[in-house]
Amino acid sequence: MTTTLDLPGRLMAAEIAEQPEVWRRLLTDGAAAIAAASAQIVDRAPRFVLFVARGTSDHAALYAKYLVEINHGLPAGLVSPSTMTVYGARPDLRDVLYIAVSQSGGSPDLVRSVEVARQQGALTLSITNNAESPLAAAADIHVDVLAGAERSVAATKSYTAELLALYLLLERVRGGDGAEAAALPDLGARVLESDDLVHGVAQRYRFAQRLITTGRGYSYPTAREAALKLMETSYLSAQAFSGADLLHGPLATVDPQVPVLAIVPEGAGGQAMAPVLSRLAERNADVFGVGSAALLENLAGGIALPGGVPDALSPLLEILPLQQLAMHLAIARGENPDKPRGLYKVTETL
Ligand code: F6R
Repeated sequence: MTTTLDLPGRLMAAEIAEQPEVWRRLLTDGAAAIAAASAQIVDRAPRFVLFVARGTSDHAALYAKYLVEINHGLPAGLVSPSTMTVYGARPDLRDVLYIAVSQSGGSPDLVRSVEVARQQGALTLSITNNAESPLAAAADIHVDVLAGAERSVAATKSYTAELLALYLLLERVRGGDGAEAAALPDLGARVLESDDLVHGVAQRYRFAQRLITTGRGYSYPTAREAALKLMETSYLSAQAFSGADLLHGPLATVDPQVPVLAIVPEGAGGQAMAPVLSRLAERNADVFGVGSAALLENLAGGIALPGGVPDALSPLLEILPLQQLAMHLAIARGENPDKPRGLYKVTETL
């Protein structure tokens, strides 16, 4: 007998819905640890910021790379852990702030790369959803995203908690207080009300085998994360491209049978998508948008996000309907998004 306890997607639905509450907790209970971590960073005055992460957390790291490049005027990059763990590289990391992002804090390659970075002179910081994890212990500084235990294999609340922790931390480092983020929990709750609409969209894309996601700037990580969620829960082939990269070749693969999910927020990243949307229209693409109502006008469909949200905070809201889409699409295809085939909650890579 099926009970509500084992309904497919029950855990993922609950964790998606919990996000405004998670953000509220991080904004209040997390503030002191974030302030202390930022003081240590300011004290060291790093000249470069490197990030290391896998999967969903890699998309949070990519988001933070945009923050550093745009707001801090510092070079930033994503590290390939294998250079240290497989090839034995020992780079000179003096003046580097080395940030590891991981919901579980359990993957050995991330832990090892932080140990190496520390030996090589970097100031190391880990951001995890598990303060007892090996990664939390390995870094000089740890920030807990306080998302609470995440039981669905598909990461949702830990992702947006990582985004918010990175935003608040980096704002502090440049002397801000992150007060503009206080509106997020209420805005997030509003966006989550689109669940019925998203359920309908999932029925429309139920038989899709291939799908493309695209966005620019801060929204490129959203496109990457949406593609990953769709792949792992619905087993379809989803590829993410920055809007710019899409025009440098992959556009040729787009035809009316390949749905495109475009992230088009109100700010600069969304405006930069306007030429991409025109080129997709020339190919008669079936484009579904998430973002500014004005940019959704000529598309096949879309979810409008609240206006007036700073560019850098938009990714927290953009991903919500896309998480809902991954969940509903999986259920519509007869899958259980809480337990994707072949995946475990902690993935250990070397
Ligand atoms: C996706 C997902 C995985 C993890 C990845 C990294 O929903 O959960 O992609 O994000 O295995 O795991 P952590 O963040 O624990 O290092």
